[in-house]
Amino acid sequence: MTSEPTQAAVVSVDRPTDWWKSAVVYQIYPRSFADSNGDGIGDIPGITSRLDYLADLGVDVVWLSPVYASPMDDNGYDISDYQDVDPMFGALDDLDRLIAGLHERGIKIVMDLVVNHTSDEHSWFIQSRDPASPKRDWYWWRPPRPGFEPGSEGAEPTNWESAFSGSAWQFDERSGEYYLHLFSPKQPDLNWENPEVRRAIYDMMNWWVDRGVDGFRMDVINLISKHELGDGVPLPGRTRVSCFFFTANGPRLDEFLAEMNAAVGLDARNLVTVGEMPGSTIETARSATDPENHELNMVFTFEHVSLDSRPGGSGKFDLAPLSLPALKKNLNEWQVALAEVGWNSLYWDNHDQPRAVSRFGDDSSEHRVNSAKTLATVQHMHRGTPYIYQGEELGMTNTYFSSIEQYRDIESLRYHSDALSLGMEVETVLHSLSVKSRDNARTPMQWDDSSHAGFTEGIPWLPVNPNYLTVNAAAEIEDPNSVFHHFRKLIKLRHDHPVVVYGRFELLLPDHEQIWTVTRTLDDQVLLMIANWSSQLASVPPEAIPDLTGAQVLLATHEDSAALELEPWESRIYLLS
Ligand code: NOJ
Repeated sequence: MTSEPTQAAVVSVDRPTDWWKSAVVYQIYPRSFADSNGDGIGDIPGITSRLDYLADLGVDVVWLSPVYASPMDDNGYDISDYQDVDPMFGALDDLDRLIAGLHERGIKIVMDLVVNHTSDEHSWFIQSRDPASPKRDWYWWRPPRPGFEPGSEGAEPTNWESAFSGSAWQFDERSGEYYLHLFSPKQPDLNWENPEVRRAIYDMMNWWVDRGVDGFRMDVINLISKHELGDGVPLPGRTRVSCFFFTANGPRLDEFLAEMNAAVGLDARNLVTVGEMPGSTIETARSATDPENHELNMVFTFEHVSLDSRPGGSGKFDLAPLSLPALKKNLNEWQVALAEVGWNSLYWDNHDQPRAVSRFGDDSSEHRVNSAKTLATVQHMHRGTPYIYQGEELGMTNTYFSSIEQYRDIESLRYHSDALSLGMEVETVLHSLSVKSRDNARTPMQWDDSSHAGFTEGIPWLPVNPNYLTVNAAAEIEDPNSVFHHFRKLIKLRHDHPVVVYGRFELLLPDHEQIWTVTRTLDDQVLLMIANWSSQLASVPPEAIPDLTGAQVLLATHEDSAALELEPWESRIYLLS
């Protein structure tokens, strides 16, 4: 490890005001992207060896999921040293080289900032275990519930359920107290009420900015300010309530974000910031992204990725059918709400979500390519900054594991054991996991048709999706009609046409069950997108869209670009004036 950046890392890139509005972000999940040393786990030199691929795709920013030192209980979202790289991924020098390689290609880098919690192996928490330590108050320590023996059943200070199943409180023998962990017991929550905690975090962020990074993706950042620590009313048949009801969007959230912005110079230095905000509402997002407030540039909302869970149900694995009007309505509400103030982030999937084409599209061999393209077209024609998750540009699909032994993800494993202990049928649990498990998105990147898809020369930590023989980057680069080339064209459209970035958004036909159509308008330029979001033929009612006479087709999935009868998953973008 070296603590000073190598010379190469200081190759900086221009960051004009609001540069991130016209940018396209590409998310890399390092563990699954490219393995350079044959240990079956992706690493930083592996990423560096693929930079020309990213430049060819045309993306402007890479968001790097955590590569910091970590015991890997949650694949790196449990950090034991914020200022070092885990040996599994390489060393700080490797990261310096990656930053330099990206910057040389005009690509910026966004680091994942995981500061709602640390690992229980972070030195701050190790010290905090001592009740006499000045670090005790850096985490949330509480005595048992009054009248209960420490460590006995029901003695947890509140009845909160962690995001990964089980109580959100972990008993610590040494002091007879409990600490709060909204995620796994190895991810204790930091106490942001303590100003020393905040100062330490801002110092660390400044250290990364000095090292050359261009911004931060902030993990569950709306959980840092907690509401009152009290009991909630559980659903029938349950003993606990989701901790998010008590910890999302707390009273000091805006204050903490503004303080961080000032202390790190996030706006002053034109860094990009995106806050992951489960349970955020339009109101909280507006306030966090209003430029006047100097907090964040954009947030990741969870509303559109919750529509296929049963409302009022037990959580994400409680499946429900998704209707197109509901999806359009939700995205439209966000478009309208952030039209004048703030900015949207646009995503279909990431390392926590199933593969987009399997979830929203049709991943059968007949429709995979066109549905992946149409999903991308719809995403990129909304107003906001698009995020592409590695492999989405290839139309990679869910893996559909059938046995629990195949899973590695902590959330999936804990859900499985918790659900079975509550008496759920094993088939139901395995089905939910095959649809929603995070491991669907985490199978290795499919580079070519060689063994393990060219991801590793060793044994991959998670099996490669067997469809890599046909779905892979090498094949798609060769094929001008591939999903990859469709993404390239969409990114280029954004760079060439300001209307794609800034145009006013309008949703047409909100109640149509198959057609998704929108316009984008900037001065006298109008773009029209029409898309068939289904695996059946669909027709666009001519009276519902602007006149197409003289319209120029900018991008289409199919050849015949005039008919208003659309093939399954056919989509087009027209320039009308
Ligand atoms: C959100 C991250 O995206 C996810 O992967 C992680 O498990 C939790 N936050 C906890 O850090």
